[in-house]
Amino acid sequence: MLAFAGVSKNYDQAAALRGVNFAVHAGELVTPLGPNGAGKTTVVKLLLGLMQPSAGRVRVFGGDPTNPQNRMRVGAMLQVGRVPETLRVREHIDLFSSYYLQPCRSLKS
Ligand SMILES: Nc1ncnc2c1ncn2[C@@H]1O[C@H](COP(=O)(O)OP(=O)(O)O)[C@@H](O)[C@H]1O
Ligand SMILES: [Mg+2]
Repeated sequence: MLAFAGVSKNYDQAAALRGVNFAVHAGELVTPLGPNGAGKTTVVKLLLGLMQPSAGRVRVFGGDPTNPQNRMRVGAMLQVGRVPETLRVREHIDLFSSYYLQPCRSLKS
């Protein structure tokens, strides 16, 4: 389902990740643990395809995390999220549903 192979990520001069290897298989529940600055958010951003590794390879569902077909299968609750403040609840639900090819039926208006 998810694989990191020799993944490193540098921000400017600083190395946030160095040679990270792990795999998550179907049915497994995994959480990254570590103190502030350990690189947890960097791991999540890489697996969501929001940034590219400096070295190594990230795979979700066997493919590139930036591929829309793979992205569509990943759900994420972002650490920091912004929504348009003028929208009503229904409009927010409709907006987020519109990001998916097959949105949850019970959420359709
Ligand atoms: N946008 C950024 N620019 C420069 N350094 C960053 C940036 N984001 C994170 N870092 C650095 O990368 C390291 C890992 O950060 P992060 O992945 O946010 O860790 P965690 O989520 O475990 O607290 C830290 O040293 C942090 O200061
Ligand atoms: Mg974090």
